[in-house]
Amino acid sequence: MTKLVLYLLPLIISCNAIHPGPVVRATKGEVWPKPQVEEKTEQYYTVRPHGFNFKGPTNIGCPNLLNDAFTRYWTIIATASSLERRGRLHEVGRKPKTKFWKADSNYLGDLTNLHVQLDDCASEYVLPAFGDNENYTLSVTSEGASLTADTIWGVLRGLETFSQLIYLEQDTLIINATNVNDYPRFSHRGLLLDTSRHFIPIYIILQTLDAMSYNKFNVFHWHITDDHSFPYKSRTYPELSDEGAYHPVSKVYEQSDVSKVIEYARVRGIRVIPEFDTPGHTSSWGAAHPELLTTCYTNDKPDGDLGPMDPTKNSTYDFLTKLFTEVVEVFPDSYFHIGGDEVDFTCWQHNPDIASFMKANNISTYEDLESYFIQHVVNLLDSLNSNYLVWEEVFVNGVTLPDSTLVHVWRDNGHETLNSVTKAGKYGIFSSCWYLDHVSSGGDWEKFYECEALDFPGTEEQKKLVLGGEACMWSEAVNEYNVMPRVWPRASAVAEKLWSAGNVNDTQAAKGRLEEHTCRMNNRGIAAQPPNGPGVCL
Ligand SMILES: *[C@@H]1O[C@H](CO)[C@@H](O)[C@H](O)[C@H]1NC(C)=O
Ligand SMILES: *[C@@H]1O[C@H](CO)[C@@H](O)[C@H](O)[C@H]1NC(C)=O
Ligand SMILES: *[C@@H]1O[C@H](CO)[C@@H](O)[C@H](O)[C@H]1NC(C)=O
Ligand SMILES: *[C@@H]1O[C@H](CO)[C@@H](O)[C@H](O)[C@H]1NC(C)=O
Ligand SMILES: *[C@@H]1O[C@H](CO)[C@@H](O)[C@H](O)[C@H]1NC(C)=O
Repeated sequence: MTKLVLYLLPLIISCNAIHPGPVVRATKGEVWPKPQVEEKTEQYYTVRPHGFNFKGPTNIGCPNLLNDAFTRYWTIIATASSLERRGRLHEVGRKPKTKFWKADSNYLGDLTNLHVQLDDCASEYVLPAFGDNENYTLSVTSEGASLTADTIWGVLRGLETFSQLIYLEQDTLIINATNVNDYPRFSHRGLLLDTSRHFIPIYIILQTLDAMSYNKFNVFHWHITDDHSFPYKSRTYPELSDEGAYHPVSKVYEQSDVSKVIEYARVRGIRVIPEFDTPGHTSSWGAAHPELLTTCYTNDKPDGDLGPMDPTKNSTYDFLTKLFTEVVEVFPDSYFHIGGDEVDFTCWQHNPDIASFMKANNISTYEDLESYFIQHVVNLLDSLNSNYLVWEEVFVNGVTLPDSTLVHVWRDNGHETLNSVTKAGKYGIFSSCWYLDHVSSGGDWEKFYECEALDFPGTEEQKKLVLGGEACMWSEAVNEYNVMPRVWPRASAVAEKLWSAGNVNDTQAAKGRLEEHTCRMNNRGIAAQPPNGPGVCL
C-alpha cells in the first residue's frame, strides 16, 4: 500500500501543472438555484431587449407587483445586453459581430414576448407569508415563451429563472428552448443580517434584498438589535436608539426606513422577520433603560455592571408589552423572532434580589429562571396574535411552546438538536453549518454546500417538520464596506440547499454554475466575491 502511494506521488504532482485561464469555466445560461425539473434543447432564440416585452394578464389584481417585476427584469435583460455592447466598443481590433445564427437550423428567431399566466391575484395589497405557493412552470418552445403560476410569488421566481436562462453567445443574448417545472424544497429560506454589531445602512439592505431575490431566498431575518447598539428608532421609546444606537441620527433605522425595507422586500416576494433578542444580548437597551437589566454584584455589592434583563420585575414585562405591541404593528409578517440565545447566568447568580425571587417562586435553576422570562414573552406574543421563532436554547431549557413555534437550531451539534426538536413535534429551522461569519480561505462556499439539513436519523414525519433554514451574517467583522462580498456568493450555496432537490449535492458540478451566477450578480451590481479562485467575468 505504502509503495503504491509512493509510486503514484510523482504522477499526482505532475497533474498539478497550472494551466492558463480560469480555474473553473463558467457555464452559460444555467440557473441558480437549480430548478427541480429542467429540460433544455439546442434550439434557441435571440433576445433583443428593445424588441422584447413581458405580456401579463391586465384585468386581475396585484397590478403593481407584476408591472414592477416586469420593469425590473426588462432592465436586467437590457443591462446584460448593454454591458456587453460597452465591453465590445472598448476592445480594439476585435472582429465585428458575427451573425452565427443565420443559416443555423437550431435558430428559432427573435423572442419577442414572455406570456405570463396568473389566475389568482385578487387583492391589491398582498404580503408574502409563510407557506406561500412559489411553484411555476416556464416553457420556451418553438411556439414562443410562457410562464404559468398560481400566485404572484411563483411568477416572481419564474421571472428570475427566465432572466438567468438568457446568456451571451458571441456578443448576442440568446435563450435555449427550455422547459422548467420548479418549486422549492423548503418554504422558509432565510438570510439573517445582524445590524447591531455594525450598522448596515439602508442602501446595503436593499442591495441585499436584490441579491436575495436573485437566489430565491424568501425570508429576511433582521437581527436588528444586540448588545452593542440599538439602531431601531421606536415610536414608543425613541430614547432606546437616542441613547443606545452608535449615533442617534446617522446610525438608526427610522420608521420610514423600516417601511422602505419591508416594501422593497414585499415586491420581491421576501418576508421581513424582525428579531429583538432578549433576555441576553440586550446591553444597548440599558443605555436608556438600565432598570430593565439585572444589577450585577461582586462581593455582595453592586459592581456597576448590568447583566441580562431582570426577569423578576413586572416592569420589565410591562415595557416589553408596549414595545412589542409596536413592533408587531410595524412589521406585518405574522412571525417574530424572540431570540433567547446565550444568556450569561453569572450576573443573575450574584444578585440577592434574584436569589430571593427564585426562592419565593420555587425556581431552582437559572435555566428555569430564563424559562420563566421567556414564558412571559411567549405569552405576550400569543396575546398579540403573533407567531414566533426562538433560538434553540429556549426549547432545550424546556419552555412550554405552542406547536406553531419554529425552533431555530444554530449550535454545533445541530443535527442532533434538530432530531430532538422534531421528535418533540416542533418545527425546526436550521442554521448550524451556515454561519457566514465563519471564514476559511478561498471561496469557502463548499463547506456550506456540503451540509444537508435533513442529515439526521429521524423518521420521515420528523423531517417534514424541518421547514427550512437560514444563512447567518453576524456583523462583528463586517460593515457596509465588506458585507456584500462576505455574504455573496457564499449564501448562494445555502440558497441552493434550500430550494433545489435533495439530490442536488455534487459540489464539482456546482462550481461552473456558481462561477456563472457570481458573474451574473456582479453584472447586476452585486459585489459578490469570486467563488473558485483565478477566473474572470466576461
Ligand atoms: C443551447 O443551445 C446552444 C446553441 O444551439 C447549444 O450549443 C447548447 O448546447 C444548448 N445547451 C444545451 C444545454 O442544450
Ligand atoms: C408545488 O409542486 C410540487 C411538485 O409538483 C407539489 O408537490 C406541491 O404540492 C406544489 N405546491 C403547491 C402549493 O401546489
Ligand atoms: C407582579 O405581577 C404578578 C402577577 O400579575 C403579581 O402577582 C405581583 O404581585 C406583581 N408584583 C409586584 C411587585 O407588583
Ligand atoms: C418546588 O419545585 C419542586 C420541583 O421543581 C417541587 O417538587 C416542589 O413541590 C415545589 N415546591 C413548592 C412549594 O411548590
Ligand atoms: C447526494 O444525494 C444522493 C441522492 O440523494 C445520495 O445518495 C448521496 O449520498 C448524496 N451525496 C452526498 C455527498 O451527500
